[in-house]
Amino acid sequence: MKIAVFDDHQVMSFQAARMIATQIKNKPDSVICLASGETPFLAYHLLSTLLLGEGVDHQQFTLIDLDEWVNIPSQNTGSCSYFLHTTLIGPLKLSLSQFKLFDGIALDLQAECDAMDEFISKRGGIDLMVVGIGMNGHIGFNEPGVSTELYTHVIELDDTTRTVGQKYFAGKTTLGQGITLGLKHLQESNSVLLMASGDRKARIMKATLEGTIDPLVPSTIIRNHSNGLVMLDQKAASLLTPDE
Ligand code: F6R
Repeated sequence: MKIAVFDDHQVMSFQAARMIATQIKNKPDSVICLASGETPFLAYHLLSTLLLGEGVDHQQFTLIDLDEWVNIPSQNTGSCSYFLHTTLIGPLKLSLSQFKLFDGIALDLQAECDAMDEFISKRGGIDLMVVGIGMNGHIGFNEPGVSTELYTHVIELDDTTRTVGQKYFAGKTTLGQGITLGLKHLQESNSVLLMASGDRKARIMKATLEGTIDPLVPSTIIRNHSNGLVMLDQKAASLLTPDE
């Protein structure tokens, strides 16, 4: 795993966009899994600008949703599905066969998990996973204590996730469970990009990069990934021990 620290969120987002665009240029049929949230918002906007501006062939890659809130319909502006539609799927005019999102209101959530695992394995696995990090160290909705051996699963959300998650919604919303790709996907993905920005992520980034590798802090697993990259802005890196 490598670490790269940038001056601010904007510079970091540009580099992230460049990295994802390069993945698509080098391997047009890449399978790319994307997180939602405040952190990658700008990177995705810059990515669509880069792909369209440079005329990169973006009709062959496959976009996969990292996670979704259970019981939240895709039309809800706080859903991950809505986020990916508005940031990338719409602007890039991706075809229906080019993306797979979770249906958070599916009656059979286990079937939803199985369908995602099958979709990924039929395409030969994930080339790049772009993830954020929760204040509790979650990756996707892999909450503290989760097994590192799981593929897609439904999980009870941690109290921190239920509380912090309110920021995505227009009004107070009951958040109970999430559906998410598992840490097994992260370990098997060809490459992983984790982005973190802002002072509020400084404490968990120190634990992620300098604490014990432990499922109680799921993000620590990225340290075992031979092709993992952690991008941070100065604020998120502010508590890291400086290099000797
Ligand atoms: C969302 C997701 C979450 C977020 C994390 C950070 O799809 O997978 O794990 O990446 O909660 O969210 P932000 O970027 O809003 O701080």
